[in-house]
Order: sequence, then C-alpha cells, then structure tokens
Amino acid sequence: MCGIVGYIGRRDVAPLLLEGLQRLEYRGYDSAGIVITGKPSGKTPAALKMVKAKGRVRDLEARVPKRFAGTTGIAHTRWATHGAPSDENAHPHMDPEGKLALVHNGIIDNADELRAKLVAEGVEFASETDTEVLTHLIARSEAETLEERVRQALHLIEGTYGIAVLHSDFADRIVVARNGSPVVLGIGEKEMFVASDVAALVTHTRQVVTLDDGEMATLKADDFRTYTTEGTRTTASPTTVEWEAESYDMGGHDTYMHKEISEQPDAVDRVLRGRIDDRFSTVRLGGLNLDAREARAVRRVKILGCGTSYHAGLIGAQMIEELARIPADAEPASEFRYRNPVVDPDTLYVAVSQSGETYDVLAAVQELKRKGARVLGVVNVVGSAIARETDGGVYVHAGPEVCVVSTKCFTNTVVAFGLLALHLGRIRDLSVSDGKRLIEGLRKLPEQIREILELEPEIKKLAEEYANAKSMMFIGRVRGYPVALEASLKLKEISYIHAEAYPASELKHGPLALIEPAMPTVAIVPNDDLLEKNRAAMEEIKARSGRILAVAHQEQEKADHTIVVPKNEVELDPILMGIPLQILAYHTALALGRDIDKPRNLAKSVTVE
Ligand code: G6P
Repeated sequence: MCGIVGYIGRRDVAPLLLEGLQRLEYRGYDSAGIVITGKPSGKTPAALKMVKAKGRVRDLEARVPKRFAGTTGIAHTRWATHGAPSDENAHPHMDPEGKLALVHNGIIDNADELRAKLVAEGVEFASETDTEVLTHLIARSEAETLEERVRQALHLIEGTYGIAVLHSDFADRIVVARNGSPVVLGIGEKEMFVASDVAALVTHTRQVVTLDDGEMATLKADDFRTYTTEGTRTTASPTTVEWEAESYDMGGHDTYMHKEISEQPDAVDRVLRGRIDDRFSTVRLGGLNLDAREARAVRRVKILGCGTSYHAGLIGAQMIEELARIPADAEPASEFRYRNPVVDPDTLYVAVSQSGETYDVLAAVQELKRKGARVLGVVNVVGSAIARETDGGVYVHAGPEVCVVSTKCFTNTVVAFGLLALHLGRIRDLSVSDGKRLIEGLRKLPEQIREILELEPEIKKLAEEYANAKSMMFIGRVRGYPVALEASLKLKEISYIHAEAYPASELKHGPLALIEPAMPTVAIVPNDDLLEKNRAAMEEIKARSGRILAVAHQEQEKADHTIVVPKNEVELDPILMGIPLQILAYHTALALGRDIDKPRNLAKSVTVE
C-alpha cells in the first residue's frame, strides 16, 4: 500500500525513480510524486525540485520537465487514506520553506490532534494528509542534525510509518525510518537505494537490508548506517534477494495477472520441491519449528488471513481437519483481532499472507504472541514482517506476485496447506497408504494445472457470454464452498460485476429468491460424496430459469455449460477447481475493458488498518 523509492549516488536520479515507481505502482496508484536535490551552484545550496500528479505514474512522468537533473531523490506512489487523490495530497510533502521533503507509507493516528496544535501555532497546511503533519514537525525541530530532527518528530507521532526524508541543508543524505511499514535499503557500488519493496530495487542491486520496526537509517552515496529511534547504533548486514529481476517483468503477457495464472504449474512445482518424503509417505517442512510431540499436543488449529489469503485458509482448515483430524477453522484476521478472542495454549495459530505485510494479520500475530500463543506463518515473501514475527512456518514459494489480485499465490498457499495437513496427519493418525495417495495427488498437480490452462480459449468464450451479467451467484458445498468464495471475490475485484458466494446447501434458505435468467450461477460440482446434493441444487436453480455454469469432473446435464477439470484426490480437488474460475474472471474483466492488474480502489498489500 503506497510505494516509496529513493536513490543517492551519481546517476541521473529522475529516470531511476520513475522506473522504481512503475515497479511499485501495484501497491497504490491514485497519485504519485518525486522530489530531487538539484545541483548546488557556487555558494547557493542545492534546492529541492518537486513534481506531483494525481493519477498514474505515467501522468507524473508526463509532468516531469526535460531538465530535471540531480543525483539524489525520493518518490512515492499513493493509495489514499487521508484526503482524496489529488495533486496536493500526493507525496512528497514539503515544508513551507521548500527545504524539506517527506514521503510516507502508513497512518499517523494522532494526526488530527497534532494538526490542530500546529494550526493554532500558525502553521498553514497545503494538503489534507496526515503525512504533512510529520513534515511540519520535522521542519520545526531545531536540533542540529537531520537525524535528530526526524527522531524528535517521530517521538511525537503515534501510528505506523515507513518514511524517507530529504533536506536541502543536508543534501548528502537520505534519512529513513520504519515502524510497521516496510523499508528496505538497497546497497550498491557508490550508490544507495531505498524502497518499500524489493521490487523497486532488484534491477539495480540484490544486496538488501530490511529495517526492523523502530529502526532508522542514514543513506549516503557510499555508506549507510542504521540505528534505533532512540539513537542506539544497530548492526545490519546485507542479505541477498532470492527473486530474480526478470520475475518482475511481464514476460510477453499482456497483463501480470495472465502471466501469474500461467506460471502456476511451475509455482506449484516449487512449493513441493524438496519437501516430499516418500520413505515415510509424508512431507518435510524444515522451517516449521514444531516437533512431533508438540504437533501431537495441538488440540485446535486457527487460521488467520485477509482477502484471498483468508479464502486459502478456509480450504487449509478443511484439509487439516480432514487429514489430521484436528478441529480447524479460518477467520479474517481483521475480525479476530478486534473481538478479544480466547487465546488458548493448545491451539496452533497460523497466519497466512502473500505479502507478509498485511497490517491486520500482523496485528493479530502480535496480539497472539503477546498472549503467549504459538503462531506459524504461511507466507510468500521471505523475511517479511509476518514471516519474522511468527515462530516458524511454511514458505509458499510462489515467486513475486505483481497483479493486485492474487492467483498463483492463492494456489501455492493452498498447496502449502495441503503439505501442512499431510505432515500433521502423518504425525497423528493418517495411514501410510493415505499418505502415499496424497503424495501422488500432489505430484500430479502441476501437470493437471497445465491441462486446465489449455482450456483458456473455451473459458474465454464463456466469459464473453456471461460478461453482460449484472450479478453472479457462486455456489459450492463443503470443499467447494471456499472455492466459490474465492471465485466470486476474483470476479468482483477485477470485473466489478457484483457476485455473491453461498454454500449450495443455503441456497433455499434465501438467495434462491435472487435467481432469474439475468443472474447466472457458477456451481462447483466435484465428483465427491456430495455430487447428488449439488445436482439437486442445480435442479432447483434450473426450475427458476437460472443459467448455470458448472465446474465439474464430468459434463453436468443440469448446467448450461460445464468446464470439465481433471480429477485429483478429493481433498486436493479444491486446488484445481479454482483455476478455471481465475481464467473466467480474467476474461470477463478483459471483455469489459477493465484495468486488470490495477483494479479500482484496491492495492496489493494493505499495510494500514
Ligand atoms: C489486499 C489485496 C488482496 C489480498 C489481501 C491480503 O486486500 O488486494 O488481493 O488477498 O490484501 O493480502 P496478503 O498479502 O496478506 O495475502
């Protein structure tokens, strides 16, 4: 949510920052801005030059003058929280003298109170943002160094931040700080980068330092140092980013979503790699930090996540309950953390997140840890905040996901849950033969996903046919229900068609009233013990003249159309049944001319409440 990028070195900074912003645009894209330190001339110190624009990074780019030279700068792409998207509210924010500029991710909780105080002292605000409060606080500090000014101001604010600060009187440095919103330093040769996300850095350097909460850093062209907001020096050794720069490119596809959907066979291969233990018909999960005795003592599993990750958690809970026979459920982390939940020592908590940054998930983890719970992570981004806060976990290894809506990461997360469920099951009472059966099923997944991807032309036609629907119903039963929930979310996120998901069993308790020809239903109909029940639900819809698109293991005569997917083991079928519906959402959105990778009002990672 919001992106920060900064550079200090010898290169022409504006093109570098604009390219960095492009790479970060998936984190927020309603306005953008850039500020650079111009060259000092004679005795006149370098002045700051700033350009901001409502809209996309390309709108900003169009405004940047031809002569915009400098070798130090910071830039930002925004997802509005305080104040609507506008030129004024776009970051950076400057002090009235034009000496200091600040970019900020996060939310300052006591901004209103501080703003009132500053206004009473005669300060004039140029924007409605919470960030500008911090700009004035730093600018008004009389401390000697820029670091001390920033530190003093940070002590006055409450909330979350990742910030980068530029000051024309201290033109040899960028000062950055982190509390709850990621800040990564990129270490180059006589040049330094800073960003809120490695995506903006990997084309230049793969040596990075991730700041901890409460940590600050000073970046100079040839050196950096880190310290706490209390001023104590910290040691930070650079680590190497695993993901290749190319994995952030579109690779010949028209959209990241299409690229990421098509990467799923390889991604699933990666999450399985090195983890299957044929000898004991189980899986090895190196980072779990949960020995057999502890795993046996678990009485309940509670999975917490948001959005698509929550849906992956719903499938994961069913897998764990079915294979390990441990009562398990999933809940939106955003709800969990506000209801003072009973935190039980015998419960294993699992936090799920693609980015590893989602604030509600992180806050739930922190609350659980404070209450002494054991929390595992199922996370994609290695070294992210949630990965670091949890006691252990399973990395999802989907590779970078750039499209705002999650596809390959969802699939990999569900597979990771399959691994966890199998592991827990084999420690408890899942038989060797069931272990073998599931391992064979897991191994078949990449090839079966390839087969589903080949259905794209057929699904595209269906999407074009259904794209005129005002609203769509998605139904599924037990294992199919979370698949329906995720498919309906995917459709509404990118096509803006209203969609509802219901358990097929609940249809007759209300939503059947909505069924008419103009409201088609997508039915998840696996060949499992509930097949007849699902057929009965389709019958009820047909009797009300509803159109039906079934996703099934064989042609469904009650449906107007059936997408036939390959059959795996019943417990693993949900992994496959969601994939044609990602393609359906994609082509529906395409037919409607939507901006697929950057759906309106959304952002990839929501690092604020
Ligand atoms: C945002 C995104 C969703 C995503 C959710 C959770 O709302 O738009 O696509 O599912 O955050 O993100 P996470 O990174 O925690 O999986």
